[in-house]
Amino acid sequence: MTCPDYKLLDSQLRALLGDEPDALAAASNFVAHIYNAMEDVNWLGIYVLRKDELVLGPFQGKPACVRIPVGRGVCGTAAATMDTQRIDDVHAFPGHIACDADSRSELVVPLIVDGQLVGVLDIDSPSLTRFSDADQRGVERLCASFCRLQSSRKGFI
Ligand code: SME
Repeated sequence: MTCPDYKLLDSQLRALLGDEPDALAAASNFVAHIYNAMEDVNWLGIYVLRKDELVLGPFQGKPACVRIPVGRGVCGTAAATMDTQRIDDVHAFPGHIACDADSRSELVVPLIVDGQLVGVLDIDSPSLTRFSDADQRGVERLCASFCRLQSSRKGFI
């Protein structure tokens, strides 16, 4: 599988989102941009932090779980620890929440704006061990750009 050119995707992302003041529109295009650039991905989207739970935001893929408590599942763990979770086999992850039965591996990156957690980006693949270290670093770079652009906007989604 070819690894996307994350540097190129990052400059495209900044061009795509740069002037858009609406956070929902920006988040929707952020998700669509990455989804269309990655092979072997069955679900990709944002969960937004609302009080102590994550609520489904813009995504691409099948309908998914709407609410995930912070600390639960892969997404809730990423939110609780504010650390990326790269899971080679979701069935081996205690408490994994199966939204799409096709998902086998998962990459979840916390979205942190001005030092505050605002949500997570969740990417699911139907293949085991889909996400490499390069994918993790590349997606973290895209999330950092997205969050930097968000910090100049008022509020999140
Ligand atoms: N598998 C995730 C739930 C979200 S779906 O994959 C879209 C989890 O364990 O947090």
